[in-house]
Amino acid sequence: MKPSSSLQKRLGLGLTLGMTLLWLAATVGAWLVVQHELNEAFDSALEETAQRILPLAVLEISNRESPRDAQHVAPLKVHKEYLTYLVRDAKGEILMQSHDAEPKIFRSQPAEGFSTTEKYRLYGASALRETVFIEIAEPLGHRREAAREALVALLLPLLALIPISLFGTWMLVRISLRSVLAYRRAVEARGVGDLSPITMTHLPAEIAPLAEAVNHLLERLRKTLEAERSFTANSAHELRTPLAATLAQIQRLRHEAPEGPLRLRAAKIENSLRELTRLSEKLMQLAKAEGGGLLSETPQDLIPLLAHVVDEWNHSSGQRIELQLPAQTSVYSTIDPDAFAILLRNLIENALKYGATDQPVEVSLTDQALLRVVNGGPPVPEPVLQSLTERFVRGSSDTSGSGLGLAIAKTIAQGVGAKILLISPATGRREGFEVCVWFPLASITDTQRYGK
Ligand SMILES: Nc1ncnc2c1ncn2[C@@H]1O[C@H](COP(=O)(O)OP(=O)(O)OP(=O)(O)O)[C@@H](O)[C@H]1O
Ligand SMILES: [Mg+2]
Repeated sequence: MKPSSSLQKRLGLGLTLGMTLLWLAATVGAWLVVQHELNEAFDSALEETAQRILPLAVLEISNRESPRDAQHVAPLKVHKEYLTYLVRDAKGEILMQSHDAEPKIFRSQPAEGFSTTEKYRLYGASALRETVFIEIAEPLGHRREAAREALVALLLPLLALIPISLFGTWMLVRISLRSVLAYRRAVEARGVGDLSPITMTHLPAEIAPLAEAVNHLLERLRKTLEAERSFTANSAHELRTPLAATLAQIQRLRHEAPEGPLRLRAAKIENSLRELTRLSEKLMQLAKAEGGGLLSETPQDLIPLLAHVVDEWNHSSGQRIELQLPAQTSVYSTIDPDAFAILLRNLIENALKYGATDQPVEVSLTDQALLRVVNGGPPVPEPVLQSLTERFVRGSSDTSGSGLGLAIAKTIAQGVGAKILLISPATGRREGFEVCVWFPLASITDTQRYGK
């Protein structure tokens, strides 16, 4: 499956990119307007200056004794000129010039109006019926610098805006998704088989319907599973009495029948009925394992429970079970005692049924709540081993059985948060079969809280 991408990342990058592009477009627009306005202002200043200087220059020239002599206007104090000007007659003879004026930068023939050369903006005006011309030159570098500075001033805020936008979106999405994360944690924290509705608080309007739909689905699932379970449990329960009655009848029949084929047939029917009784018993155990209620409210000490079940089996199996208990006196876990007994009975039953009869069955519990049931016998191949915990799956054994024992054990283990592992050959041996179950340890504080 393609890894899902983060909403935070997508929104953060998308919004920041969008904002940057919009900002750049706005900057270009604003810069073009600013440039146009700047040109207008500079041109108007140029024109104004020419109009002011020209009458003074005409007065000065006409007051001269020899008006045709060119004259440099002496500066009042030494400075670098920003605007330079030239006063010429219609033929282009220079009559007056500012002290820094460079005649080469002006047009060869004086003309009126604005013009632009590579480096200068020029403006020309005339007086005395176009016999005296003034031309003012302004270096273009100055205008370009002003335009550049305006552009930098418009772009500079972007440097701060990009990280602010990224961080702001990230924070906003994080805060907005807080309730969604809480919802996710609530879903993750549920135990196996917990199908009760998930409480939702302050979910965003886009997510709330989803959570509602999940709750509806859970409700439907719960009802379906309950119906299935109660059907299994009820039918197994209802079968009990007629099965017991039929078994009693067939036993009587077997006793009363004369030696011969009729008695043998009665014995076969009795065997089949016993199988059927065992199957209905296993179905009831499976229904209980799947029905929840596998956890106890108070932590249970596993040691006395284990000792009790092993004792029971030892009575009926002729002391074939060897029990090893941890040095410490109690091992607590929050499993329902009945569920623990069902799980253990199925494992021990299997070990006695399928294990080598000349070897003992080892049952042990560690102080870390690891339960091991080990028996001898030929090893089970790996591919078969993996499927044994499925319902109605059996190994290659002649002994009768329904194939439900390990499925029941696995369902109980999952229901209480334990881990179950089948190992063959058994650890440290060349043959045999081993089942390990790691129960979750109830912490000491839990135990104290419940007053144990
Ligand atoms: N301790 C064991 N040693 C060897 N094989 C085992 C052991 N436990 C289980 N098996 C194999 O796994 C199969 C499934 O076991 P499971 O307990 O699920 O069903 P079953 O014993 O056949 O029937 P049921 O327990 O429902 O009466 C068995 O048929 C057997 O082949
Ligand atoms: Mg079994």
